[in-house]
Amino acid sequence: MVHRPSRLRRKGIAPLVRETSLHLEDLICPLFVDENLERPTNIASLPEFDRHTVESAVHEAGTVADLGIPAILLFGVPRHKDETGSASLSGVVQDTISEIKRQVPGVTIIADVCLCEYTSHGHCGVVDEKGVIMDEPTLEMLKQIAVTYAEAGVDVVAPSGMIDGMVAAIRAGLDEGGFKHTPIMSYAVKYCSNFYEPFRDAVDSSCAFVDRSQHQMDPANTDEAIREVRLDVREGADIIMIKPALPYLDIIYRIKQTFTVPIAAYSVSGEYIMLHGAITNSSLRPDVINEVLLSIRRAGADMIVTYFAKEAARHLRQA
Ligand code: PBG
Repeated sequence: MVHRPSRLRRKGIAPLVRETSLHLEDLICPLFVDENLERPTNIASLPEFDRHTVESAVHEAGTVADLGIPAILLFGVPRHKDETGSASLSGVVQDTISEIKRQVPGVTIIADVCLCEYTSHGHCGVVDEKGVIMDEPTLEMLKQIAVTYAEAGVDVVAPSGMIDGMVAAIRAGLDEGGFKHTPIMSYAVKYCSNFYEPFRDAVDSSCAFVDRSQHQMDPANTDEAIREVRLDVREGADIIMIKPALPYLDIIYRIKQTFTVPIAAYSVSGEYIMLHGAITNSSLRPDVINEVLLSIRRAGADMIVTYFAKEAARHLRQA
């Protein structure tokens, strides 16, 4: 037989022709640090995932680094929330960044830049009396947050609110502040998704009346994703984030085919509980985790933020 595709599937040959791989270096582990805590506490909506104190966050960063995962994505929960999210400018995230830098210098710290964890109303920006996000005061806050993170020693800032003009504002702020080498990972393509619900519990930003559809994307659109990425790249984004991942693999693929910018995909909290539940309560085996992560890589993601980072790393180290 001239064509016998199974010849290449034999042991010893299959790895040589493998097109896509999932490596430890592709993983980013989310890390939540909460100013209200005395000790690490499980997040009810995210089984087997904790919120940390500054001290336990440093320990967790060490565990992540020991597993060979190169980076963490840091989120903070403040003690006080107010109208403008002022607690975002100094506090638990800045403290955690500097402590991790001091004690676990090998791990790359990417920090979320958004107001929704810090505002009393739960919006990702400063809002007017009707609850509509006001660009100018919001961009000014985001710029200042990014600079305070950079001062604390952050490696990458990750604005996640999809506020128009956020990349340009943050780039200007970082450059003026003397941080021209700090890259921006921008959530250029963030869909208005139901898959974020467990995360909102994790950072206490669940707020019944918050309508994020004013700034997050309509799940029905794909051309809009191209326009968003083009704008963010023009404004100076170094890495593009697409989120969620699994229900949007077509978007990851299309962006990869259209642009040459590095792509990060965020496999969000809803994706995590979906698989976690199926593994814990049904018959799916944990091997599905790496299969799903591989599908995200195959679609075109260069790196993946996943709540399964530690499990995936352990699996990869055994392989
Ligand atoms: C906003 C932000 C959200 C997530 C990451 N950054 C929530 C939102 O947009 O409502 C969701 C992440 C997840 O679901 O795992 N700062």
